[in-house]
Amino acid sequence: MQLTVDGHTLDVAPQPGQVLRTLLREHGVTAVKKGCDAGDCGACTVLLDGVPVHACITPAHRLADATVTTAAGLGTAEHPHPVQRAFAEAPGFQCGFCTAGYVVTAAALDDDQLADRHRALKGNICRCTGYRAIEDALDGVRNTACASAGDAVGTSVAAPAAMRIVTGTEEYTLDVRRTEALLHLAVLGSPHPHARITAIDTSAAEALPGVHAVLTHRDDPGVLFSTGRHESRLDDPDDTRVFDTVLRFRGQRVAAVVADSVRTAEQACALLRVAYEVLPSVHDVDAARRPGAPLLHADKTTAEHRIAEPDRNVVAARHGGTGDLEAALAASAATVDGTWSTGRVSHAALETHATRGSLDRDGRLVLRTATQVPFLVRDEIAHVFGLDPARVRVVAKRVGGGFGGKQEMLTEDLVTLAVLCTGRTVQYEFSRRDEFTIAPTRHPMRVRVRLGADRSGRLTAMHVDQVMDTGAYGNHGVGVMFHSVSESVAVYRCPVKRVDAESVYTNNLPSGAFRGYGLGQVVFAIESAMDELARELDLDPFELRRRNVVVPGDPLVVTDPDEEDDLRWEGSYGLDQCLDLVEDALRAPLPEVPAMDGPPLDRAAVDGTAPAGTGDWAFGTGVALAAIATMPPRGHHAHASVEATADGRYRIGVGTAEFGNGTTTVHTQLVATALGTTPDRVDVHQSDTDAARYDTGAFGSAGVVVAGKALYAAALDLHEQMTARALTIVAARTSRAAVGPLGPAVAVLPDGVRVGDQVVGHAELLAEGPLVAHGSHDGTPRSLAFTVHGARVAVHRPTGEVRVLHSVQAVDAGTVLNPEQLRGQVEGGAAQAIGSTLYEEVVLDDEGRVTTDAFRSYRVPKISDVPRTEVLFAATHDPLGPLGAKSMSEAPYNPVAPAVANAVRDALGVRPYRLPMTRDRVWRLVQQASPDATDVGGA
Ligand code: FES
Ligand code: FES
Repeated sequence: MQLTVDGHTLDVAPQPGQVLRTLLREHGVTAVKKGCDAGDCGACTVLLDGVPVHACITPAHRLADATVTTAAGLGTAEHPHPVQRAFAEAPGFQCGFCTAGYVVTAAALDDDQLADRHRALKGNICRCTGYRAIEDALDGVRNTACASAGDAVGTSVAAPAAMRIVTGTEEYTLDVRRTEALLHLAVLGSPHPHARITAIDTSAAEALPGVHAVLTHRDDPGVLFSTGRHESRLDDPDDTRVFDTVLRFRGQRVAAVVADSVRTAEQACALLRVAYEVLPSVHDVDAARRPGAPLLHADKTTAEHRIAEPDRNVVAARHGGTGDLEAALAASAATVDGTWSTGRVSHAALETHATRGSLDRDGRLVLRTATQVPFLVRDEIAHVFGLDPARVRVVAKRVGGGFGGKQEMLTEDLVTLAVLCTGRTVQYEFSRRDEFTIAPTRHPMRVRVRLGADRSGRLTAMHVDQVMDTGAYGNHGVGVMFHSVSESVAVYRCPVKRVDAESVYTNNLPSGAFRGYGLGQVVFAIESAMDELARELDLDPFELRRRNVVVPGDPLVVTDPDEEDDLRWEGSYGLDQCLDLVEDALRAPLPEVPAMDGPPLDRAAVDGTAPAGTGDWAFGTGVALAAIATMPPRGHHAHASVEATADGRYRIGVGTAEFGNGTTTVHTQLVATALGTTPDRVDVHQSDTDAARYDTGAFGSAGVVVAGKALYAAALDLHEQMTARALTIVAARTSRAAVGPLGPAVAVLPDGVRVGDQVVGHAELLAEGPLVAHGSHDGTPRSLAFTVHGARVAVHRPTGEVRVLHSVQAVDAGTVLNPEQLRGQVEGGAAQAIGSTLYEEVVLDDEGRVTTDAFRSYRVPKISDVPRTEVLFAATHDPLGPLGAKSMSEAPYNPVAPAVANAVRDALGVRPYRLPMTRDRVWRLVQQASPDATDVGGA
């Protein structure tokens, strides 16, 4: 049958049951994305005969002679559709993976639908932006601007990829065109939370036509590693194999099939016959540490595998303190003692994990993969498979969202094994169900906090006792534990501190790196406890914090004054400003009541002027703060290059990946500023281990402050080289000796170097040889960034619904390099945090079975669910960052949950201790708050 797709006729032959999305992608129509394959996210939206549909649930065989329009058919970069132009100029995206679906949906809206956009766009999810920027695009608000030459820093420059993103032509991992036939991988997952494989019969699977290989533990390379990646591989325990004979969580790989199609590979998986010895399992961190508990990694040792106590299921532990805690608490005028807990959260990046691997003409392994850390993947793949790193190339195209989830090596190892076994090009793409059931989540934590203070409100004692469920493997289970109790504790001055923290193996799915890297969970507990302490002391919560936060000159102490010796103040301190900004914002009248789904809430109710009998809503205000180091500890390296080209442009090589964090844009701004040109003349070549020099990767908010500094240093070096060469050329032209430092004024301009009244163009400069400069940065010393969040909430007593009416965050990010981009990072982080504060939770049953395995059961914020976050910037300049900037992509997430929780406490008079604050939990709080309350528990 025939289809007309974006103006081209396609002859297609759909498979029985095939949907339009996969049919289009098989024919190279890559503007159609996969976010869920279940009709929930809108990433696959196309116009079918002019009507927007989700291509992933549209049967293909019914579409003979239909006309399909994707984002690529709506317009081009040169001639965009007005909606595409608006999305580029707002800009209504960050990673951009949702954008092709959004522009198609928005292009079909009439005025009425546009006015009722919360309903019209319910089928489209954006995980990055927090939706304000998308609403701006719909309203035609332009927030980007063009920068003048040499003056790009501080301007809201558009992303270099903006037009490609809005026209659906930007390449993500699996969009790269190929000429060779592709094989696909499917995986058989463990049906048991803990079991030993005693036998596998692969014969029936291998006999299925179209199957090329069946991979099992017999093919395992025999090297233990961790899926979590860091600069030093010794930061994580070696507890994982490509294929293990012991299965430690439901869904863990038992075997994999490589076949001509996904369907055949899945059919072959169903033919595998596996015999298991079922082992006792443990799913609770307390039970896991008791004597006699099933041990997950008893076959490993502390010395060799870096597991703190294998005989107690503890992968990492920290216990220590300063002073006599119990005596200090006993002597305190006021004390607080509470235990808070947080649930599992999915990154829910719209692009799922995926890798395509092949051998190039020289037999080198090439992995195209959705990763935040291409160089770390290259090195670990080489380590696990015994390859020379020079024989491995890892390329990350634009990544469709990360949030820490792509700092894991989840698909690359299996694809490598498949490529090495078959010699063919092999692709492995996670489904959305895989993302929920086998991809690591944010660590669930239980945090007990004890605080003491004197009568004046000065902290006298602080105890943080944290235990976290790292699941079956310790990927990031060490780093997250240490980080969770670092800046969260260090941000307060207190003479007596004690920290107890343990990271515990269970037979649950693994936890991993997540935006904030553990801080958010502990900040939730400490900032809730600080709020309670303010109530005990009858002190304003802002005032209590002002009396106790560290100020420049204070040591940053967790349990040892010397432990964070490369964290520096250097005069950049904006926490005081952030507190002032949020306090002022919360004092101002509420500007408007955001329109959201749910029970009606009108202005009169908010203002307390509603008639009697309409008082179902309770209102409250809360605040919380957080600090975060501007880059990860123990080394984060970036080496970058800048090269002048004859056409007056610059080519930069940088290792960091772009996944919506905006580093690419900022990198062009830094280089353009140093070289007196405009960002559009800077071409970025990034995240390809062959095309760039080593970079640890884009995590820990390091893209701006580490790679950015390396690039800026390279650009300054190139500036020097260009001016020196121009002076020599001008001296030769004028038959004089080289013009020295006291010679005519020299400036690098967009089209060359001006020396006095002469200009030496790029082509003439380069006639003397290439002009390339290199820069590097080793990620130390580090600085501190601060965030303060304020929330005003309404709690609907009859249902327990919490509605955030006002979300405001002040951030100390140093020099603001790109205001619109920074605003977007804060809004996106706040929206993601509101989701995990109020409803997002990966739920497991008592046997480790995930019961929330789709967007329908795991709710992420939609456009109608979150208010706009008011974003305020502190005015600081950090000498340690590039042009005074500090990082700010994880930080906005951390103070949101406690600010909202403190507002709920203010509204109800009862404190929430558990995240997410779902309706049923808050309803129980409401019952507790009622005068004739009985114990309803669990809130
Ligand atoms: S709605 Fe089709 S991929 Fe999500
Ligand atoms: S920009 Fe919308 S999902 Fe990333």
